[in-house]
Amino acid sequence: MMDDVVLVTGAGGQIGSELVLSLRKIYKNVIASDLKEPTGELKDGGEFIRLDVLYKNGLMDCVKRFNVKQIYHLAAILSATGEKNPEMAWRINMKGLRNILDVCVEAGVKKLFFPSTIAVFGPTTPKINTPQYTITEPNTIYGISKQAGERWCDWYFQKRGLDVRSLRYPGLISYKTKAGGGTTDYAVDIYFEAVEKKQYECFLKEDTTLPMMYMPDAIRATIMLMEAPAEKITVRSGYNVSGISIAPKDVAASIKKIIPDFIVTYNPDFRQTIADSWPQSIDDSVATREWGWKPEFDLEAMTKDMIDNIRAKN
Ligand code: NAD
Ligand code: SER
Repeated sequence: MMDDVVLVTGAGGQIGSELVLSLRKIYKNVIASDLKEPTGELKDGGEFIRLDVLYKNGLMDCVKRFNVKQIYHLAAILSATGEKNPEMAWRINMKGLRNILDVCVEAGVKKLFFPSTIAVFGPTTPKINTPQYTITEPNTIYGISKQAGERWCDWYFQKRGLDVRSLRYPGLISYKTKAGGGTTDYAVDIYFEAVEKKQYECFLKEDTTLPMMYMPDAIRATIMLMEAPAEKITVRSGYNVSGISIAPKDVAASIKKIIPDFIVTYNPDFRQTIADSWPQSIDDSVATREWGWKPEFDLEAMTKDMIDNIRAKN
């Protein structure tokens, strides 16, 4: 077990609720923090602190009190919620990140993880095999805030010497905690509804292909990047990482192999425009070359694992 004290913000969310458990197998002391009360597993397995990333003093007190050496800064507002409340999304995503960056420098935190996203790309970005370095003209507040966040992270690395590392996660699919206000949430909801109701109304068109990733791959990518030797890391804004490129009709077909009477209907809403502005597939060759990234789950393996685990929960 490693000694560094680790702080995770937004730990009660879709990623945090799994990442904290994995980090606790590696580090002796992982402090989970969030605005909201955590679920049992998160609370029982170690320290939990209620922290609002908008309050720098509270963050600083926590970092100093526990002598925190690494921060995984997950707290944010995602794309769909962000479009409904742009002011709040900008404030939490930007001010929250700036507070974390400043606390890291002022309190001597050694390493920071910042989760970026495929939402930094926009309608003018090449959609197929989107390269690491390309046009980034996002048209959602979420994407704009994450693109600006990437630039701040790079600036803090260049000008303040902070060891910041970041991934541009695709849409993440998981069964432990439901997704929190994103455009890719359909790919989580569809599995729960398939098991529980055998029918699902999808808010994206059936052929909307987006880059997605199963949570175990996302957690592995995060830890691989954070554990990689610093000299291997050339990207301080956000690494492209790829998993599976799929559309709702592909997910539905793979579920039907296990639940043959599953029915999906399609009723696109405002999230269709967001999805249409994002890439369909991602070129992650820089991450592969520099720190060995390779996903393990394909659609069929993910579907089986999702359905088995949701059935076990019910
Ligand atoms: P989530 O919405 O499930 O969880 C975010 C958590 O942040 C919530 O538990 C919420 O209570 C907390 N939070 C919100 N405002 C806060 C504040 N002011 N102070 C402290 N905590 C606050 O999100 P997630 O899916 O777990 O995503 C985590 C990070 O990964 C986010 O930065 C997100 O942009 C990024 N990301 C997620 C995905 C995905 O598909 N889930 C994809 C790309 C990037
Ligand atoms: N999954 C996220 C969203 O849909 C992408 O960052 O907002």
